[in-house]
Amino acid sequence: MPEVDKAGERYAADQPQETPGFFLKGSHQLDWGIKNRLARVFSPSTGRTVMLAVDHGYFQGPTTGLERIDLSIVPLLPSCDALFCTRGILRSVIPAETTKPMVLRASGGPSILREELSDEEIAMDIDDAVRLNAAGIGIQVFIGGEFETRSVQNMTRLVDAGLRTGIPVMGITAVGKTMVRDAKYFRLACRIIAELGAQYVKTYYVDDGFETVAASCPVPIVMAGGKKLTELDALTMAYNAVQQGAAGVDMGRNIFQSEAPKAMIAAINAVVHKNARPKEAYELFSSLKAKG
Ligand code: R5P
Repeated sequence: MPEVDKAGERYAADQPQETPGFFLKGSHQLDWGIKNRLARVFSPSTGRTVMLAVDHGYFQGPTTGLERIDLSIVPLLPSCDALFCTRGILRSVIPAETTKPMVLRASGGPSILREELSDEEIAMDIDDAVRLNAAGIGIQVFIGGEFETRSVQNMTRLVDAGLRTGIPVMGITAVGKTMVRDAKYFRLACRIIAELGAQYVKTYYVDDGFETVAASCPVPIVMAGGKKLTELDALTMAYNAVQQGAAGVDMGRNIFQSEAPKAMIAAINAVVHKNARPKEAYELFSSLKAKG
């Protein structure tokens, strides 16, 4: 690693970065169109978002819980701040009447059948994102991966296209199958993604040092959920992430693979937008689940 790794006071995690004139970290000097799209994804009143991630099919096919997005996900649309999906699902399944902001997966290539997942390309023209009225686009960045340079370049090309058209880019820290997930890695990956122009970054939570990941990233971080946990553990992870500086979540499996997805997304909303504590949010989940 290029830095002397002494996590601690130099990150000043308790001292928020100033954002004069706009509510979102690192976004105050952007143009009106990008700011407006960001303000559709992130709530201006809390500065946070509950994005529902359902893009998994772009490399995994019909993932558990996403076999029928029309039946499992469309009913959840009123409960999220934004949906993260592919343009294929958007056009084929998501009703165009929805006013929810859509963030579109813009990379693809290798399927889950391949060992090396970093061999991705840009998988959507920016003109199509404009045509689809996208509120943002998202791309995987494989820092440390075999095709690191290409995936970084894919992202910077999208950032250029996004700046031309006013569409913010969410860079996603991809960990592949073998990379270590710790604060040191995510500090490196998130910072590179932000330095190279992404307007926000999606990354995973780590128990030790997440606040240094958030503090050293000059743009908002949203937390990916990862593999299915118990509901209480997932709510605790989301709580810890936002308390330690994340501007919300972009969660998938821990919502749509829950035994009660509607109750779970309501509980996540309480954690993200109302700072509900994990136990309180779990009680909300349990009571909503009991009501069916
Ligand atoms: C990200 O790269 C994936 O395609 C998902 O969007 C992401 O992993 C979030 O979903 P989950 O919460 O299921 O990990």
